[in-house]
Amino acid sequence: MSTIYQATTSAPVNIACIKYWGKRDTTLILPTNSSLSVTLSQNDLSSTTSSSTSPSFPTTLLWLNNLPPEQIDLPSLSSSTSPSAVADTRLTRCLLQLKKLRKELVEDKDPSAPKMSEWNLHIASYNNFPTAAGLASSASGFAALTASVAALYGLNTFSSEQEQGQGNDPLVSASQLSLIARLGSGSACRSLFGGFVSWSAGSLPSGTDSLATQIAPASHWPTLHALICIVNAQKKATSSTSGMQRTVQTSALLQHRITDVVPRRMEGIIDAIKDRDFDAFGRITMDDSNQFHAVALDTSPPIFYMNDVSRSIILLIEELNRVSLLTSRHLVAAYTFDAGPNAVIYAEEKHIPTIVNLVLRYFPLEPGTFEDKLGVLGGKDASQVGGGVPDGFDQGVVPGAFGVGTLKGLIHTRIGDGPRMLGKEKSLLGEDGMPK
Ligand code: DP6
Repeated sequence: MSTIYQATTSAPVNIACIKYWGKRDTTLILPTNSSLSVTLSQNDLSSTTSSSTSPSFPTTLLWLNNLPPEQIDLPSLSSSTSPSAVADTRLTRCLLQLKKLRKELVEDKDPSAPKMSEWNLHIASYNNFPTAAGLASSASGFAALTASVAALYGLNTFSSEQEQGQGNDPLVSASQLSLIARLGSGSACRSLFGGFVSWSAGSLPSGTDSLATQIAPASHWPTLHALICIVNAQKKATSSTSGMQRTVQTSALLQHRITDVVPRRMEGIIDAIKDRDFDAFGRITMDDSNQFHAVALDTSPPIFYMNDVSRSIILLIEELNRVSLLTSRHLVAAYTFDAGPNAVIYAEEKHIPTIVNLVLRYFPLEPGTFEDKLGVLGGKDASQVGGGVPDGFDQGVVPGAFGVGTLKGLIHTRIGDGPRMLGKEKSLLGEDGMPK
């Protein structure tokens, strides 16, 4: 029997503070502006991908979240099949780039290296968070796929000690791999790193300068936490991919954002992160989320991603910050919303109990919809917490309270590291290369 090679990696979710919205090249996925994100802990949210290859596999197969396999038609690098003869998709573009690197950097240099670039693949991928949580899974999914096949091909082993995925002098750096993950989904390129990550728009038509780099590792600001408020678990009506191109074609405001606003904000937020300056970090994050939703509204026909619950969360956080600025001259929390109604609130760890109490006062949860892993409620279930407000807080800022279960759930998490290599026991594929 031929040898079956295998590798498994996990990759994190990232949430942008400076949003990517708009492509200048829709095939290479080159953005119209640079963006910056925070990587969330894989202990709470991650995608795991196992990939396997062998000369004995008759086809390339992909298993997503335990569904039946999908057959992927990939041209062999050495065959005469022209790439146009097979489906050209985001996935096949990523896999072909990885095969090219395997051939050039490993097989052409060492004739005794297994010719993996010519063999079919078996790939299985799984998200540890329900797709129904309404959180983007394409970023962690394509990052995990890229990292897993890169590890299988001996291009980068994502040593866990090295936040930047640069462990053991890899043949291909995490930034170079971010160019490949980007071909799968733009925001995926930022999930190749932990901590604080920027994705430069670049200017070359080839896209080789449109890559992700780490601004600071998670350990730089360990007290920065995130609270995810699940407002709606349904799939969004307008996908990011189609929504952003409609904005590029129709929004006049987007041009102002690209040329005047984002470059200034990128500089400002990078300085804020370096200085661990929550006031500057939080203000820029909220302003950029609001401007992203403004360009969505400025699209024709307009796109609405936030709903009344989202807007009420904004009002609560702005009021909390108003009171805090009066008493301590500092912001305590920053909200941001992607292409959907769910809020992500960034705050220093010490302020999380105040924020959780406030959210629970206005949005009482069903029992069991908040797993208090970090212990902010002192052992009580969220459904039993009364939810106080700070002194001076205008309780009428949101008219009335919403019913129990309006908010579907809360996830309290930290900033986390980049892709991790996982051992055989975590593999989604057995020794035979088939799902376990
Ligand atoms: C609002 O990366 O999902 O989350 O490149 O078409 O796959 P494609 O889009 P995607 O868009 C993410 C948009 C966003 C902002 C961000 O993450 O920067």
